[in-house]
Amino acid sequence: MDYGLKNRLSRIIKPKDNKTVMLAIDHGYFMGPTAGLENIKRSIAPLLNYADSLMLTRGILRNQIDAGAGIPIVLRVSGGTSILKDDLSDEDITVSMEDAVRLNASAVALSIFIGSKNEKQGIINLARLVDEGNRYGIPVLAVTAVGREMTRDARYLSLAVRIAAETGASIVKTYYCDDFERVVNTCPVPVVVAGGKKTGEEEALELAYNAIKRGAAGVDMGRNIFQSEKPVNMIKAVKAVVHKGLTAEEAYNTVYNIIK
Ligand code: 5RP
Repeated sequence: MDYGLKNRLSRIIKPKDNKTVMLAIDHGYFMGPTAGLENIKRSIAPLLNYADSLMLTRGILRNQIDAGAGIPIVLRVSGGTSILKDDLSDEDITVSMEDAVRLNASAVALSIFIGSKNEKQGIINLARLVDEGNRYGIPVLAVTAVGREMTRDARYLSLAVRIAAETGASIVKTYYCDDFERVVNTCPVPVVVAGGKKTGEEEALELAYNAIKRGAAGVDMGRNIFQSEKPVNMIKAVKAVVHKGLTAEEAYNTVYNIIK
C-alpha cells in the first residue's frame, strides 16, 4: 500500500489498537437539518476532542468546523438525492478529489446501494473514486445498506460489504446484524458500523460492544451520539467500549452516567 494512503488510514483507524470512533454528521446531505445538527458549530465542537475522525460534507466543514480543531476528516463526496424521494440510490460523486485534497481530507466517503436499481452506478462511482483516491493517496470509505428496501441480514450485508471491498474501498461502513462475524470475516478490509436511528444509550453502547466483539474495527456513529441527552458523555462511553474494551453496562454506568 502506498505510504500516503497508509498514513491517512492510520489517522482514522488508530494503529495502537486498530480501532476507531468516527463521528458521523453528514446526514444533512440528503436529510437536511437533522435533529441535533441544526447548529453544528454549537453541538459538535464539544465532541471533537473525543472522536478519532469526523465524517461530514464540505459545506459544513468549510462553514462550521474550526480549521485548527486538528481532527482527521472523512469527507462525504456522494449525493444527488434527498429523503423526499422514495429511492435514495440515485447518487453520484459530488466533490472532486482536488477539492478533497484542498480540504486536507484523510479519506473520502461514498454510498453504494447494492440490490437497488442504481446498483451499477454506485459501484462504478466507487471504482472511479478509488482510482482518483489512489492517484492522491486518499483512502475511500464505502457506505453500504442505507435505505429501507433490503433486509439488513448477514447474507445481504456480507454481499454488499464484500462488493465494496472488491471494488477497492479501504474501509467499509455498514449496519450491525445477527451473525455479524460473517460480514467481517468475509471482508478483507476494516468494517465499521453505523449507529442507525436514535435508540436508548445502553442499547447503542450494546450495539458498539457487540460489533467490536464480532470483529468490527469500530463505529461511525451519528444520531446515537449527537441526539443523546448527554452527547459528550455518550461519545466518551462509546470510546470506552471501542478503545478500552468496556462492556456496554460498564460504559453506561461508569462513563455515560457520571455526573457532570
Ligand atoms: C448516511 C451515513 C450516516 O453517516 C450514517 O447513517 C451514520 O450515522 P448514524 O449513526 O446516525 O446512522 O453514512 O449515509
